[in-house]
Amino acid sequence: MSRTGRAVEFERYGDVDELHFVTQELPVPADDEVVVEVVCAGLNHIENFIRKGDFTDRLPLEFPARQGSCFAGIVKKRGSAVRDFSVGAEVIGHAIEGGAHATYVTVPASSIVKKPSNVGWEVAGGLYLAGVTAYDVVRSLHLGPGDIVVITAAAGGVGHIECQLALAAGAKVIGTCSPPNHDYLRSIGVTPITYGEGLQQRIEEAAKRPITAFIDNFGGDNPELATSLGVKEARFSSSEHRLDLEMHYIRPERDDTEPAMVLAALAKLIAENKVRVLISGFYPFDYITQAFDDLAEHHSRGKVVVGMQPVETGVRSHWYLSGKARSTHEASA
Ligand SMILES: NC(=O)c1ccc[n+]([C@@H]2O[C@H](COP(=O)([O-])OP(=O)(O)OC[C@H]3O[C@@H](n4cnc5c(N)ncnc54)[C@H](OP(=O)(O)O)[C@@H]3O)[C@@H](O)[C@H]2O)c1
Repeated sequence: MSRTGRAVEFERYGDVDELHFVTQELPVPADDEVVVEVVCAGLNHIENFIRKGDFTDRLPLEFPARQGSCFAGIVKKRGSAVRDFSVGAEVIGHAIEGGAHATYVTVPASSIVKKPSNVGWEVAGGLYLAGVTAYDVVRSLHLGPGDIVVITAAAGGVGHIECQLALAAGAKVIGTCSPPNHDYLRSIGVTPITYGEGLQQRIEEAAKRPITAFIDNFGGDNPELATSLGVKEARFSSSEHRLDLEMHYIRPERDDTEPAMVLAALAKLIAENKVRVLISGFYPFDYITQAFDDLAEHHSRGKVVVGMQPVETGVRSHWYLSGKARSTHEASA
């Protein structure tokens, strides 16, 4: 089996056309690290923003730079101090210094968790950043059975996980989306409301009682909307808050054990069928720029993911679309 792989790199700040493939030799891990052969890796808007140079103050890059935060794969090598994961273990992880858009990624063993066997590779590969962000947002609002929460961009990569976590906490959920996503949101128990002119009235009519919390994934006029709906400041999670969480979770400290704990909790929820993560588009690795273009359209239903190799989920072997992602399929436990 070949030990040579490929990684996506870029030499300067810019758009997806700065991305190119370079050859990657099988890395050698440090004592506390593992080398994972990536099967699938997720895409996130924040990776686009960082590559474009929008966050040079908070996260300056050294070039050549690599990207990719979320991955699932198979442990290929482990450092001498790693005991929890054997070579061949199937894992879900977080590339704390980026670089998951590659054949091999090297990470501290503390940033991977075991992949439950009934969690699909593409779901596992796209889980980390959207999942821990959604988990943190929902947790921060202390939602419970008495709550009625509005979630904007409710069918998106982060929003659809927030919806399910809020429902699991006992809250009633109203989600904003476009009409093609109404059936999906209804199917998971969310009341869908089309965003745009007249949104406040539609929300109030659907809620029939005061809104108690508001999660804004999108920004725009939504802070004013939350205020008009009478939501208290402490129960409003802004898109800036979400951005801060993403910036934190994309580059946590090496000794921060919380992200992996949350990732493991999410993997368990998915394995138990309590949360279902949608895959909006699954592109072969060669199509990484098209995958980012798709994401940038801001109409994903769930996550956009790239696959480094064909994967098998359940009884079917997939080698997925090389075209548009909107032929959404549902991947779950
Ligand atoms: N601080 C910030 O400014 C900040 C931080 C993080 C993310 N965001 C943004 O938040 C959005 C959601 O993030 P994500 O990671 O979940 O992205 P995503 O997976 O690409 O989801 C995009 C979602 O946004 C929805 N959407 C598109 N236009 C909308 C609008 N005018 N009002 C409300 N929802 C709209 C889409 O719904 P339909 O397909 O149903 O139209 C889609 O479900 C992204 O657009 C992202 O750029 C902003």
